[in-house]
Amino acid sequence: MQIYFAPLQGITDAPFRQIHADRFPGVDKYFTPFISPTQNYNLTNHELAEVDPGNAHGYRLVPQVIASKPELFLWAARQLADLGYTEINLNMGCPSGTVTAKGKGAGLLTSLTNLELFLDEVYGHTPVPVSIKTRLGWKSPDEYADLLTLLNRYPISELIIHARTRTQFYDGQTSPETVLSCLQLCRIPLVYNGDLFTPGACRSFLDTDTGINRIMAGRGMAANPALARTLKGGSPLNRDEFRAYHDALYETYLNRFSRGAALGRMREVGKHLACCFEGAEKALKKLRKASSLAAYDAAVEMLFEHPLRTDPGFYPVA
Ligand SMILES: Cc1cc2nc3c(=O)[nH]c(=O)nc-3n(C[C@H](O)[C@H](O)[C@H](O)COP(=O)(O)O)c2cc1C
Repeated sequence: MQIYFAPLQGITDAPFRQIHADRFPGVDKYFTPFISPTQNYNLTNHELAEVDPGNAHGYRLVPQVIASKPELFLWAARQLADLGYTEINLNMGCPSGTVTAKGKGAGLLTSLTNLELFLDEVYGHTPVPVSIKTRLGWKSPDEYADLLTLLNRYPISELIIHARTRTQFYDGQTSPETVLSCLQLCRIPLVYNGDLFTPGACRSFLDTDTGINRIMAGRGMAANPALARTLKGGSPLNRDEFRAYHDALYETYLNRFSRGAALGRMREVGKHLACCFEGAEKALKKLRKASSLAAYDAAVEMLFEHPLRTDPGFYPVA
């Protein structure tokens, strides 16, 4: 069983990943949120810090790149290979309108003819193995078989499938049945992603005789940091380590960012962590609305008074 922590822009940055990896074993790979080389072949300082191997100790990190042109992807791949990376992930799944309008992310799924030209270049010249994270298609899961037929032609090191289409963004039903019905067709090592929110949900997926033994969890792992450890037979999340983890993240962000930015970041992290508590709707509401550190602190105190759920993880707010 391989368990990967999905990239979550705005949450799983380098300090977050380090704190998580230091405290919670079991994650086989972490991915950076996407970095996006500019037309002038540049990366921002933040992106450079994200992929700096000096900021990733004791865990396996795969940098993720998003690009509309193969030459930009390949430029980034060469920089990353020089830093010592042995796998680079191509983002072909980001659904954001501003991203897809530029032909990046899931925008690459709008035309298989253009995608073929893109992949011919990438796989013809990449200096390191390239894995892909993508979706079932642009509009309909029916597009998946043709997409897979095309992808099978390339030496893709691993294929991570988020079981939704671009038009679904992150909502609505996932379609595991589409992924499973095309399993025979797929010649690439496959990683399943989408709504595996709790240890229980991951187990039912892994225990079903699908033949898939690699999964990627995003929101579930952001909520329950012990998800991978629990799945691999380790102890379930406990309150003391959970509190210490929260406090370590909080302290790190306060040291690195302005108070306002640290608060914004912790609200985002905190709304995931809050899902692990039973009956904590009020505390979650307070946390989401907190406009000062004092209000945030009060919400967190309230939150940690609740018991942990028996199957802690991400529970979408209705
Ligand atoms: C806030 C947020 C940020 C995300 N950022 C990225 C990203 O940078 N790169 C990427 O490939 N996917 C990104 N995703 C998608 C996740 O990696 C993952 O595919 C998605 O959350 C579904 O998995 P889950 O149901 O386990 O959360 C993001 C999703 C969310 C909710």
